[in-house]
Parts: sequence; C-alpha cells; structure tokens
Amino acid sequence: MATEQPQPTRKPVSALALIDNEEAVTEIVRAAMAQTENPRLRTVMASLVQHLHDFLREIRPSDEEFEFGLDFIARLGQATHATNNEVVLAADVLGLSTLVTTMNNSTKDGRTPGALLGPFYRANAPRYQCGDCVVQDDAPGLPLFVSGKVRATDGTPLAGALVEVWQASPVGLYDNQDPKQPDRNLRGVFHADADGNYHFRTVRPAGYPVPTNGPVGKLLAEQNRHPYRPAHIHFIVAAPGYRTLVTQVFADDSDILETDVTFGVHRQLVGAFQRIEAGRSPWGDHPAPFYTLAFDFTLEPGKQAFPKPPID
Ligand code: BEZ
Ligand code: FE
Repeated sequence: MATEQPQPTRKPVSALALIDNEEAVTEIVRAAMAQTENPRLRTVMASLVQHLHDFLREIRPSDEEFEFGLDFIARLGQATHATNNEVVLAADVLGLSTLVTTMNNSTKDGRTPGALLGPFYRANAPRYQCGDCVVQDDAPGLPLFVSGKVRATDGTPLAGALVEVWQASPVGLYDNQDPKQPDRNLRGVFHADADGNYHFRTVRPAGYPVPTNGPVGKLLAEQNRHPYRPAHIHFIVAAPGYRTLVTQVFADDSDILETDVTFGVHRQLVGAFQRIEAGRSPWGDHPAPFYTLAFDFTLEPGKQAFPKPPID
C-alpha cells in the first residue's frame, strides 16, 4: 500500500513576505541579502540598498528618468578604457573621491592632508638626485624650484624619504596626453637627504580641464560647471614604518581654487608659488624670473604602501 508523501507546508499568501507597499520592497530586498557570509559585504550592501531606495523614494523618478539614469551608468562603463577611466572621473566630479580621501586622511597631529591620486599617475618615473630637474624638453615655461622637509608627526626628520612627483606641463597636459613631450616628462622620484630635506627643479604647471568628451563632460555642461583643475603638483611621500601620503600642492595664485572640478583643494594644500623677479635661483644658478615653492610634509606612523597606477 502506497505511503502518503509529506506535503510541503505552505504559508497562506497573506503571511508571505510579498510586496504590498513601497517600504516592503526595501525590507524584502534587505532580507534577501541577509544571509551574505562576508560581514563587511553584508553591511555595505544593506546600507547601499537602504540609501538607494530612500533616494528613489525622495526623487520619485518616472520610468523614462530611471532608464536614463541606468543608461548614464552604462555609458560611464562604455567610455572607460586603457587611457580613460570615466567611472573614476564621475566619482571625482561628484566629490566622492575627495570625500573618501578626506575621511581616510585625518590631519590629526599635524599630518599633511591627502588628495586624489588622479588618473595620470604612472609607474616607472625616472629616478633623480635632489636638485635635479624633471623637465626633459625645452618647451617654454618659467622654472619652479621646489623644496621642503619630510617629518614624522613627532617632528623627527625622515631621512631618505621617497618623494615622487608628477605634474602637467605649462600648457596643462601630462606627458601621456601630449605627443610633443618625452615619455615620463615632468615626473620623478627623489629621496630626501639625512635631514629629511628634498629639492628639485621643474617648470610651473598650468591648470587643465578633466576629459569632457564623455558622459561626465555632458553632465558638467548641464550643470554649468567649468571642467578645470587649478595648477597643482602631485606628490607621493613615503618612508618605511609610515603611512604613505598621496597628495597634491596647489598654486596659491590660481583663481579657481574654490571651484576645482574635483573639489580636491584642501586649505592646507595651497602652496606659496613665489615669483622671483631678480637674482639667481636658490640652486643651479638660474637667472630670474623664476618661481619657488617651499612645502613640508608630515607623515603618521603606519604602513608604507604604494598606489596602483591607473594607467600604463
Ligand atoms: C588629476 O589631478 O590628475 C586629476 C584628478 C581627477 C580627474 C582628472 C585629473
Ligand atoms: Fe593632476
């Protein structure tokens, strides 16, 4: 005689977690992800879903607006390739990159603030001696003599600290954007002396626009925003036993410090670019006019680690 199979017990439809209002969608989605084993992923996704759902409830997009938003995100991906990262650019012009950099770089104990790595950092910059010049071409531009000291938060000079620099040219182009510049022009790696002092010669950089030929450029135009960054020099400053500092120093005479398209200008990162009209350079015996910039860096104890170059 056939034994009777146990039947799956079914809850009545009225007791099932089904959708009956807007809030229920959020609760059901969060519940569906609650078994995620990785605790950080579980927390991040629960919060992300909650905020995105709240955002949609606030702006109440039409179906067409929702499709447009999804298409914008798809176009960010489509515009991303070996020499352009449109996703990172979007994060930059929305202030997301600067917010994360600011959260992760406290200025406690006099630490130098961090700033965006940016999309133009490249590996294998030429190695130079202190005092050398990072300019490899004879393009016009006023010389800039940069010097300073690298210290720890307790004031100890960091002998031999690594100081890596990269910058745009006097016409606002990085070497990899400009076929006229030699490879790795205006880039260099230096080591501070036994007292933590570094110095090098370069040429005064110009401000420049971020790429505007993709969806981010269209957004900036819609927002009536200019696409420029103020003139700056990028620095990576590192020493064993100290948290590597990725930062930028901005020219104090730029008139767009407050409207940097990436919101990257921390008050303490504005450097005095002094124009010298007479006399000779502090080293190298160069005649005026030239610029000088003195800028010190302070590192906190921690892990020395180097960022991954976003381009080749
Ligand atoms: C840069 O400073 O190199 C940069 C940062 C964000 C977007 C574009 C360029
Ligand atoms: Fe830059």
